[in-house]
Amino acid sequence: MLKDKNILLGVCGSIAAYKSAFLVRLLVKSGANVKVVLTTDGANFITPLTLATLSKNPVYTQYFEEETGVWSNHVELGLWADLMIIAPISANTLAKLATGICDNLLTAVYLSAKCPVYVAPAMDLDMWKHETTQHNIKRITSFGNTVIAPASGELASGLYGEGRMAEPEEIVSFLNHAILKAMPLYGKTAMVTAGPTYEAIDPVRFIGNHSSGKMGFAIADTLVRLGAEVTLIAGPTAQKATQPLKRIDVVSAADMFNACSEHFPQSDITVMCAAVADYKPKTVAEQKIKKKDSDLNLALEKTVDILANLGKNKTKGQVLVGFALETNDEENYAKGKLEKKNLDLVVLNSLNDQGAGFKSDTNKITIFNKALEKTTFEMKSKTEVANDICEAILKIIK
Ligand code: CTP
Repeated sequence: MLKDKNILLGVCGSIAAYKSAFLVRLLVKSGANVKVVLTTDGANFITPLTLATLSKNPVYTQYFEEETGVWSNHVELGLWADLMIIAPISANTLAKLATGICDNLLTAVYLSAKCPVYVAPAMDLDMWKHETTQHNIKRITSFGNTVIAPASGELASGLYGEGRMAEPEEIVSFLNHAILKAMPLYGKTAMVTAGPTYEAIDPVRFIGNHSSGKMGFAIADTLVRLGAEVTLIAGPTAQKATQPLKRIDVVSAADMFNACSEHFPQSDITVMCAAVADYKPKTVAEQKIKKKDSDLNLALEKTVDILANLGKNKTKGQVLVGFALETNDEENYAKGKLEKKNLDLVVLNSLNDQGAGFKSDTNKITIFNKALEKTTFEMKSKTEVANDICEAILKIIK
């Protein structure tokens, strides 16, 4: 969840500041870009050098460096952040956030930030319980900030009670969960098919097609990024998913049908991107077919139309998306498939568009919705096309 996120970590004056070093390490390990703003009091507990080394970025302590005059732009820092976390936050800084006091770089950055802000308080038991502190906590929560509650335990004062900053591991897991919950497809399950199917002729030969699986894998990855729990049913392909998802590898149309039938009832969103064979050999030879002098005729029979089958069994609230790869009379064929297979969206690729369809890294699509409204897109990378398709799905879900 935190991969490639820009995270601004504020560190205030508290003995818990030593835990910030571990927090920076965990955030960096999760793939986040981390910049640290350290208050003057914070710098009494942990050195900028430690945090700069771990975050691999300069640490910001002042508006400007007295010796060099180098200026730290609080607005730029605030806008850079996808997420701001102040850990530990002291009672003093908490009071400043609650009242808008802006007398140091950290509070100025806070006021400039437009991203979600999380705070992890650390203070002595009685300071934490004090009505003023609790009032300030309520106030900053009412501004939309999130408090990661302190835990109970032995405190630096020797007293025992609530006030210990949450452990760095807990903070990271809290952030991961919060990001996941804020995603538009959080709580939704999705099923995507991708790649070709291979229909066996004999133990060494098959009927297949040129589908690379790139489009389906890009869609599956995008749905995960939007928060869905994704099952990807893939025909034979060398593609690899970049996001965490459940992958089921299949070979033939019949295998794909079985896997889809099992997972479809639980799927809120289904995108059938696979290039499923329409015909398969009527019989599969048990031994390798030997070359003869005469011609060889293969008798073929229809495979099951998986998409049409799912369309028949679709229940209220399920979103079903199909593809149509056409060479002529494209729009009519696509609209026909939308209606015949009971789809919510059909994504049309025309093999007449250069750079569209199988194997290429780009695609050019037209989407029709149930009302037969048409949206045409430019030629784009398959990742961008996946975004467009998922946007269209989001419109239906909303
Ligand atoms: N599809 C499927 N099962 C099949 C064939 C196709 O689920 N046996 C799905 C594909 O994944 C795609 C859609 O149906 O989402 C359209 O596939 P396409 O081959 O273009 O359409 P067909 O209905 O097979 O019609 P035709 O081949 O005549 O164009």
